[in-house]
Amino acid sequence: MIELAPSILSADFARLAEQVRAAGEGGASVIHLDIMDGHFVPNMTIGPPVVKSLRKATKLPLDCHLMIENPDQYIPEFVEAGANWMSVHQEACRHLNRTLNLIKSHYCLAGVVINPATPVDALSEVLDIVDYVLVMSVNPGFGAQKFIPSTLHKMSRLAEIRNQRGLNYRIEVDGGVSLDTVSEVVRAGAEILVAGNAVFGKGDPKKNAQDLLRAATEAALQKV
Ligand code: DX5
Ligand code: ZN
Repeated sequence: MIELAPSILSADFARLAEQVRAAGEGGASVIHLDIMDGHFVPNMTIGPPVVKSLRKATKLPLDCHLMIENPDQYIPEFVEAGANWMSVHQEACRHLNRTLNLIKSHYCLAGVVINPATPVDALSEVLDIVDYVLVMSVNPGFGAQKFIPSTLHKMSRLAEIRNQRGLNYRIEVDGGVSLDTVSEVVRAGAEILVAGNAVFGKGDPKKNAQDLLRAATEAALQKV
């Protein structure tokens, strides 16, 4: 099943509740929150207080994408604030297995993320414990960047490995997903589509979400 996860990074932070509601009315089924610390990535965004406020503003699951150093130190706080899904970067975790199990021990869905320069092979030992794998299709840190097409083969590879090994993680894509790129990411195997600028950048988030989901669903139908 294809799901749309709008990233609030491109939303108007003074009108978050309203914008998230509009995206939900357009069919979004998960809300993606980009947590940046100014160390792992060259930008800073939000922390647990915003997660806590959004938790009260929507019933949709909150997908917290941690782009931070030492994620173990903050995972319990994000859980407490209301995160339902939590992903950590392979590149930020010295003890990746431990960190993923820590997320799972809090009854959150656990995801692992790879940057454009990180190969799928780097995940071979954790694919059996994750609920989802997030393939970054831009270098993390900012919204509205250009999609990097060389990341597409990683989505297909993850789908292939899942089949071969009988696993059941889901495949998420993040960065530069728009009406121009949504068909190719879906054809490559992505099932959870993060989109910031394409949903909140301009126009009506409800209509933007509807248009993206329609294009994604059409591409998924062509695939089978
Ligand atoms: C980038 C973030 C993304 C970002 C995507 O570091 O992880 O979630 O918001 O934004 P768009 O869809 O605008 O590329
Ligand atoms: Zn993200």
